[in-house]
Amino acid sequence: MAPKDDHPDKPESFGVSRRDFLKTAGVGSLAATVAGVAEEVGAQTTAGPKTMGPGEVPVTLMVNGKRVDLRIEPRVTLLDALRTRADMTGLKRVCDRGSCGACTVIIDGRTAYSCSTLAIDVQGKPIRTVEGLATGNTLHPVQQAFCDVDALMCGFCTPGFVMATVALLEKYPNATVEQARKGLDGNICRCGTFVRIMEAAMKAKGVARA
Ligand code: FES
Ligand code: FES
Repeated sequence: MAPKDDHPDKPESFGVSRRDFLKTAGVGSLAATVAGVAEEVGAQTTAGPKTMGPGEVPVTLMVNGKRVDLRIEPRVTLLDALRTRADMTGLKRVCDRGSCGACTVIIDGRTAYSCSTLAIDVQGKPIRTVEGLATGNTLHPVQQAFCDVDALMCGFCTPGFVMATVALLEKYPNATVEQARKGLDGNICRCGTFVRIMEAAMKAKGVARA
């Protein structure tokens, strides 16, 4: 047992127990810390990036070489922005979670899942969709190859495969089968027309324009 004189609750000569002193000191320093952090956060918020939303904000996209002005919430995906606000229904919503490729677009030369991309994040970048491929009534060579070899059944996965093939052949104009397999492996055809899709990609190689 601790000697009485050392008992933590024993009043000191100035009338405050050590326990009370420690409690008071702890609360005091916590309050000071919280106040300091709040001050720091306040300073960062003032100096940091501007907060957008949650309501609608102006968003400007460059799609197939044309400016598209929208008012959307910052949380809206590129897929939703284009399909429901800009009437561009070529890109399809299938899984809506970045695994099937039906919503594939080309952003700044690279394929991207529009269902997993925020529209607000791709302002100022060139965005290409399947609607921008044909020239008048003339299909893009990749679209033509898909028709020629009958490389589609449902049509839902097709625009995504076409965009992925376009991106592939712009990068490798004479892509090998292996490169094509790798380039298209982010897209899924649930009914199994992969053989025809590969055939279309090989048919279009060398003729697909950049
Ligand atoms: S709908 Fe975007 S990856 Fe499936
Ligand atoms: S052709 Fe679309 S899922 Fe197979």
